[in-house]
Amino acid sequence: MTVSPRPVVELSGVGKRYGEVTALSGADLTVHRGELLAVVGPSGSGKSTMLNIMGTLDRPTTGTVRIGGHDVAGLTDRELSALRASTIGFVFQQFHLAPGVPALDSVADGLLYGGLPRAERRRLAERALRRVGLGHRLYHQPHQLSGGEKQRVAIARAVLGDPPLLLADEPTGALDSRSGAVVIELLYELHRAGTTVVVITHDRDIAASLPREVRVRDGRIEHDSALPGAGAAASAPVPVLAAGEGTR
Ligand SMILES: Nc1ncnc2c1ncn2[C@@H]1O[C@H](COP(=O)(O)OP(=O)(O)O)[C@@H](O)[C@H]1O
Ligand SMILES: [Mg+2]
Repeated sequence: MTVSPRPVVELSGVGKRYGEVTALSGADLTVHRGELLAVVGPSGSGKSTMLNIMGTLDRPTTGTVRIGGHDVAGLTDRELSALRASTIGFVFQQFHLAPGVPALDSVADGLLYGGLPRAERRRLAERALRRVGLGHRLYHQPHQLSGGEKQRVAIARAVLGDPPLLLADEPTGALDSRSGAVVIELLYELHRAGTTVVVITHDRDIAASLPREVRVRDGRIEHDSALPGAGAAASAPVPVLAAGEGTR
């Protein structure tokens, strides 16, 4: 069957050098709509570099990056920002919430440049906060929230405009395991609702539990559970999601 939906992200031969350091090299990765995949690997292996390039926050030194079919090399910085704003939500290990600002405004401010009136921004923000289970924390400031709650505020902000792609860089890295599990469950919910989710983790259990696992080491993709033949080399049991070709 060659019914292959247009990939959300396509990296081909992507490399990134920072001066003498080769952070990423020869990365080939295709992410289809609706996937939930883990990127796992030791510290310094190039995970964030790859995610930042996927998110067009950074440009590669070599290779091609396509987002929703657009070769991003052909886009100006301004076009890139527009593509990013309409397509990609980001979540990081640090929550990046401004001190003293209530959750509702932290989230609503994500829409500041969209030209919507404040009341409408806040209405959408409230909806996003309810979606992440924080309907009872709308007016709490960061110092009144637990780590897990702060990360859920950050996720609400990231999904506010319903971006088709959510990129999360170690979203559980600063959380205890219980709060981390809540955040992972939330990513699952977004995935079930149709969002494509790429999550970096150094937690091998989390990575192995997701439908697809990509392992990075020394700037190279050393394993992708979606590729044919990957199962044989896998050291952990890998759930198979239609071998990379999404059926939805
Ligand atoms: N902006 C930068 N300038 C110089 N070196 C960098 C920069 N970003 C990352 N690196 C280097 O690239 C390598 C990969 O980093 P990174 O992608 O952050 O790894 P990971 O997220 O897997 O911990 C590391 O050696 C890191 O020190
Ligand atoms: Mg990193």
